[in-house]
Amino acid sequence: MSRLWFSTPFFVIILPVAVAALFFRLEPFDPGFLPVQLGRSTVAVPASNGHVRVGSEAMGEGHLEGPEDLAYDAAARVVYTGCEDGWIKRVTVNDSVLDSAVEDWVNTGGRPLGLTLKPNGELIVADAEKGLLRVSSEREIELLVDEYEGLKFKLTDGVDVADDGTIYFTDASHKYPVKDAVLDILEGKPNGRFFSYNPATKKTTLLAKDLYFANGVAVSADQQFVVFCESVLMICEKYYVQGPKKGTIEKFCDLPGMPDNIHYDGQGHYLIAMVTALTPELELAYRYPFIRKTFAIVTKYVGSLPISKNGGVLVVDLEGKPTAHYYDPKLSLTSAIKIGNHIYGGSIFYPFVTRFDIEKYPALPTV
Ligand SMILES: *[C@@H]1O[C@H](CO)[C@@H](O)[C@H](O)[C@H]1NC(C)=O
Repeated sequence: MSRLWFSTPFFVIILPVAVAALFFRLEPFDPGFLPVQLGRSTVAVPASNGHVRVGSEAMGEGHLEGPEDLAYDAAARVVYTGCEDGWIKRVTVNDSVLDSAVEDWVNTGGRPLGLTLKPNGELIVADAEKGLLRVSSEREIELLVDEYEGLKFKLTDGVDVADDGTIYFTDASHKYPVKDAVLDILEGKPNGRFFSYNPATKKTTLLAKDLYFANGVAVSADQQFVVFCESVLMICEKYYVQGPKKGTIEKFCDLPGMPDNIHYDGQGHYLIAMVTALTPELELAYRYPFIRKTFAIVTKYVGSLPISKNGGVLVVDLEGKPTAHYYDPKLSLTSAIKIGNHIYGGSIFYPFVTRFDIEKYPALPTV
């Protein structure tokens, strides 16, 4: 027995396993079971391009740190994007990406995520650290709201504005800040909320709570409902704001992985940015909380795990039916908008905005 203490197997196997087991027991991170139906048939899409990085181009490379969301000003031909360092930058849209100029526009002092440009030139910002902000065209920042009934927003994430001026936005988590967003996702508990804000009365209304990482928001083209994404559940839902179903929630679409922002393209389609497809690793994590706990321990004490794969853009029609899927094994997007023949993609993981020409490299029929 005593010889075991000095033997190689003890130091190489038994000791590390014992330490790891103890560590696992002592770690308070407590993931929940997820109400996600796995093993479901994958989302059927009639057309796809699974190698969309072929022919893709980088815009503003080196001048943009993690450009999360994109908002396009067609008159000025500039894209607004919020970066990791707190800057909302403006990037000119040119035929050649090499001609694109990047301008530091305004710094929120937080982490700007969702952006919506109003017709009057105001930018409404979901800032993960600051809350819901309005930035005037003169670059003055105003805090609109950062809490609801005493529970502060911790990860204000997606935003859109209806024609009547109502602002719809999400707080992905009231528990974890943006730097720990992965932990919220791994915890698998519904810490997210979906709100509206009326600029005339300055009143915030809670529309839905207990959401699993509430993310992107898009007001429907006909202003009848507002779509919001629940990243962890891999779905988008619609909240009716008009008509007989007003105030009720229905599923808008199932997704082949985790969504982030969603934007209407003005031409009958929504572009849903996909951070990752549902990979086998991720599916295991969904199934078994102890795997999520292991991932969380690694994330907390070692570093983030590169588990995203086959992210990109899912295009759906006005009814939420998929029409095209653009993805790539090595792509992870957090927003997508369409300008001309190109889809422009933002990503918290890249130092540039990516774009790909969907006329030149189209999604082809899958059957
Ligand atoms: C790039 O686009 C911007 C905005 O349209 C324009 O002002 C600028 O002149 C363009 N730059 C070049 C080099 O074409």
